[in-house]
Amino acid sequence: MTFDLAKEKDTNKRTGKHDDEDVESLSRKEATARIAELRREINYHNYRYYVLDSPEISDAKYDRTLKRLKEIEEGFPELVTPDSPTQRVGARPLEAFREVRHFVPMLSLSNAFSEEEIRDFDTRMRKLLGVESGVEKDVRYIAEPKLDGLAVELVYENGTLSVGSTRGDGVTGEDVTQNLRTVRSVPLRLLPDRRRALPALLEVRGEVIIRIEEFKKLNREREREGEPLFANPRNAAAGSLRQLDPGITASRPLEVFFYGIGRAQGVKFDTQDGLLKALPKFGLRVNPHVGVCDTIEEVLEYYRDMMQKRDTLGYEIDGVVVKVNDFAQQDRLGTISRSPRWALAVKFPARQETTKVTDIVVQVGRTGALTPVAVMEPVNVGGVTVSRATLHNQDEIDRKDIRIGDTVILQRAGDVIPEIVSVITSNRTGRERRFRIPDTCPVCGSDTVRLPGEAVTRCTGIACAAQLKELVSHFASRRAMDIQGLGDKIIEQLTEKGLVKSVADIYSLRPAELMTLDRMGEKLANNILASVEKSKNTTLARLLYALGIRHAGEHISRILADHFGRMDRLRAASLEELQEIGEIGPQVALSVRSFFDQKINIAVVDRLFAGGVRVRGERPRSGARLLGKSFVFTGTLEKYEREEASRIVESLGGKATSSISQKIDYVVAGKEPGSKLRKAKELGIRILSEKEFEELIGRS
Ligand code: IVH
Repeated sequence: MTFDLAKEKDTNKRTGKHDDEDVESLSRKEATARIAELRREINYHNYRYYVLDSPEISDAKYDRTLKRLKEIEEGFPELVTPDSPTQRVGARPLEAFREVRHFVPMLSLSNAFSEEEIRDFDTRMRKLLGVESGVEKDVRYIAEPKLDGLAVELVYENGTLSVGSTRGDGVTGEDVTQNLRTVRSVPLRLLPDRRRALPALLEVRGEVIIRIEEFKKLNREREREGEPLFANPRNAAAGSLRQLDPGITASRPLEVFFYGIGRAQGVKFDTQDGLLKALPKFGLRVNPHVGVCDTIEEVLEYYRDMMQKRDTLGYEIDGVVVKVNDFAQQDRLGTISRSPRWALAVKFPARQETTKVTDIVVQVGRTGALTPVAVMEPVNVGGVTVSRATLHNQDEIDRKDIRIGDTVILQRAGDVIPEIVSVITSNRTGRERRFRIPDTCPVCGSDTVRLPGEAVTRCTGIACAAQLKELVSHFASRRAMDIQGLGDKIIEQLTEKGLVKSVADIYSLRPAELMTLDRMGEKLANNILASVEKSKNTTLARLLYALGIRHAGEHISRILADHFGRMDRLRAASLEELQEIGEIGPQVALSVRSFFDQKINIAVVDRLFAGGVRVRGERPRSGARLLGKSFVFTGTLEKYEREEASRIVESLGGKATSSISQKIDYVVAGKEPGSKLRKAKELGIRILSEKEFEELIGRS
């Protein structure tokens, strides 16, 4: 089968525009042309769906197109031909499978989309059966979930499975017996295992499905293997069943629920209800959520109830099927153009739609995370108009290969935020543009970084308007600068009024400015300013922590403060220097380095100092020959008391501690050293004699 793709796309465009046009207003000539166009389009999508298992449009779009064709054909019945897609559903089986004819055709269902149409169905049934006029006593219904999988027929001869086939076009399907035999819920022999009690012939029909969790798992595996992903569980089920190698089918967790029969010999059923009760006795699985309804109101209740339950089932259903319960009544009602009059599929609002990505924009969150967001042509998905969907991060965009200009399948499951499931790559024109998260923040212009091991790209700017509230709030928090009274409500006003554009502005706030805030009295303003004043006297560790550098929490800030002692030294430290410090990994190092690489951040830090912030215990700039080095003393030194030696080390910018660890640079060993010397040797730490120590401190 070949299709002219270019022509096909053209058709898509044109059909869209005519959707609302009245059939009455069409001339015969126009109708002929429209019908031809729509048939070509539907045939093409049938082929994508049934033969290739790779649909290009959403089911909803497909349904609309088919509905439109039906409408026009109803207006011009003389134009209906036997080969119209309205006269059959599905496409021919793949050549690789043997063809199987269904003795009793596998019918399709007429669709309804509203409660009103359910009531109309009831009115129609009553009228046709003559319930009102007393021909029939009453009509009862049975309601079932409309399972969103793949319809199959299984033939049991004397209780043994002989043939299993797909529905195909309803008349001819594909022989997938070997594959169906691998599905656990397909019995190879009916129960009970006594030939006598079993029907001579039973053709059962059901739906093969895959659970949502399993579908996701399968897609994760396929992603790992670099194989194309399944668009949804139904495609996964279809793709798994229609494998030429049954071994592959066997590895897929397929399931089946039975809901109907073809021929039956040696067994008789009177009602759908009776059938569904009898099937499990033969070992044939039936969906548990079936409801017998005495009135149409009960059907409506069932419909609403299933809509509620939809997200909790673990597998996809796309609506409910309402059937006249009594088989004799079904026979009297009969069939019209491939659909039984006695059944109705009531569809749920679709959760997948196709639309076009017109742009990808970046949002900067409160914590500085840059989130790419797809801007799309607005589309109604399950009753909600959607025009934006988060793309999470660069990896996600790359994985799904989403480009600006792409046609995509958009999904909204339950109350979950809409997401782009996949790209319809065959719609590409070559004019699509790839997207990369920018190197600079769209809000403040600072560099963005993606730290090792993280999926998120972040803004490194400390004066970024998008993060300002969050940054100020963190800056003022108790374990940071501890500015009491500067709560979130006040911060919100200060930033919104533009009184605080960066944390440095806190130190130039004037009482009059504070007084312009809601519910701010003189006393409160003075109290806040007093704690602002108090906060100026702080430690380097606190100040560092207050800056909110990603991954520089309290602990890391303290390590950095201890190591460098001064802000300017930390500021000047290279990536390598940072990484050499124990406990500082590449992630922290890069985060710190990128922070101090931003002119804006340096300016803010300088303004903090200019505004009066003072860091306690900053060590002198000169003579720090042991800067960042840590020492442990063991044994007795001849010329120095332990305390004195420690003081010397500290005066030179180093640190003396008493416990040995990987982070220690030198162990100075005197007379009769203890177990620390052995441990130091084990750890490969440099051991100094007293003489070597003196050389190091410049006193030899
Ligand atoms: S009854 C005439 N019952 O829906 C009876 N079909 O559009 C037709 N389906 O091909 C089948 N759940 O794949 C029936 N509980 C259910 C169903 C169901 C899903 C599918 C089936 C069929 C299609 C008809």
